[in-house]
Amino acid sequence: MGKKLFIETLGCAMNVRDSEHIVAELSTKEEYAVTEDFREADLILINTCSVREKPVQKLFSEIGHFNKKKKEGAKIGVCGCTASHLGDEIIRRAPYVDFVLGARNVSKITKVLHEKGAVEVDIDFDESTYVFSDFRNSTYKALVNISIGCDKQCTFCIVPATRGEEISIPPELIVQEVRRAAGSGAREIMLLGQNVNNYGKSFSDGRRGVDFSDLLNMVSEVEGIERIRFTSPHPLHMDDKFLEVFASNPKICKSMHMPLQSGSTRILREMKRGYTKEWFLDRASRLREMVPDVHISTDIIVAFPGETEEDFAETMEVLNKVRFEQVFSFKYSPRPLTKAAEMEPVDPEVASRRLKTLQERQTEILDEIAAEQTGKVCEVYFEELRSGGTVAGRSDNNFMIQVEGSEALLGLTLPVKITNPKRMVLYGEVLHQAS
Ligand code: 5AD
Ligand code: SF4
Repeated sequence: MGKKLFIETLGCAMNVRDSEHIVAELSTKEEYAVTEDFREADLILINTCSVREKPVQKLFSEIGHFNKKKKEGAKIGVCGCTASHLGDEIIRRAPYVDFVLGARNVSKITKVLHEKGAVEVDIDFDESTYVFSDFRNSTYKALVNISIGCDKQCTFCIVPATRGEEISIPPELIVQEVRRAAGSGAREIMLLGQNVNNYGKSFSDGRRGVDFSDLLNMVSEVEGIERIRFTSPHPLHMDDKFLEVFASNPKICKSMHMPLQSGSTRILREMKRGYTKEWFLDRASRLREMVPDVHISTDIIVAFPGETEEDFAETMEVLNKVRFEQVFSFKYSPRPLTKAAEMEPVDPEVASRRLKTLQERQTEILDEIAAEQTGKVCEVYFEELRSGGTVAGRSDNNFMIQVEGSEALLGLTLPVKITNPKRMVLYGEVLHQAS
């Protein structure tokens, strides 16, 4: 008899892929099938994120709710970064939780499932050569891990403490995975790692000689793959070779995530980011010169401990100079196991005001950028049916585009003329159907 699995995924693309791996293992080795309704599930999993404080605070009320309403005898497991971080404390605070599985221990899912009270949160565990069973949420695009862990020590970030040291996945396993995805119909792949352009610095067998630029070229040779994206690169490792490959390989989508975090060199030093404001601006303008239509997104933290009005003004200056096509902005949130948590925080009201100032300015920039897209023609890979007889997809340079159409468009890449650009979605018309 098949069983039902409900899985809730919080956080980043890494977690989305970890959840796909969990579903893959449980459906091929344990006969589970996914359900959207936790009340009918035999197993309830929550794949957690710990990068900011709020979702962690909500975790216990959420699993409490699951426990009250779940089917009789259903198991509850807590996975992901908060599992790594809190470990057996989760079971002490919520004894009805059946097991805790850390972000670097995903391959042990079928083991912990059968051990009431199991806690597997070893951040030294080397999962880099484990080959998971196959499952993907989307038929059109595939997430593919290229490394585990993170070797940086950004002083605000809990990730190195939850996902451990960085290890690159061997290139032959990555190529094999990409082939498998292409074979099942995916035309687009998204390469995933905490710090993708540091790829190749640390394999478990000690080998050397392949870097991220080489990997991009290898992957682009896989038959059937038309588009390659990746997240996240680190601005520090954006050397000329990397920008050259990015600009010249036609299969690499022209969108780059450049997590700024702060525009003040003084704060960047306190954050241990390893680059200056000038380096960041130089890389961004180099990128815009080399790839005129490039889409640059970023992450910004406001009110890092010690941030002054002058520091914040420098962040605003970078925002105005680079004119990012997308900004993910956050108020600094103190995290346990990080250096910055010991520093003097900025007044919460000041922090809120800065976030508001930044987001309002970014909204103005976005409206201008959207308006500039009118009349442009871009190649769109259609992947999502939307309501009212419309279909959506992304342009090569990562704008969300929506057109009138039916499921016949799904999986096709077609030229679209932008007719009515909005801040979040650019509306357009398909120019001609593929013959
Ligand atoms: N507080 C606020 N934002 C954070 N991020 C990481 N750690 C923190 C923190 N302690 C943000 C960074 C990172 C993104 C994934 O989350 O901007 O790039
Ligand atoms: Fe955190 Fe820095 Fe690693 Fe990104 S690169 S996950 S910000 S430590």
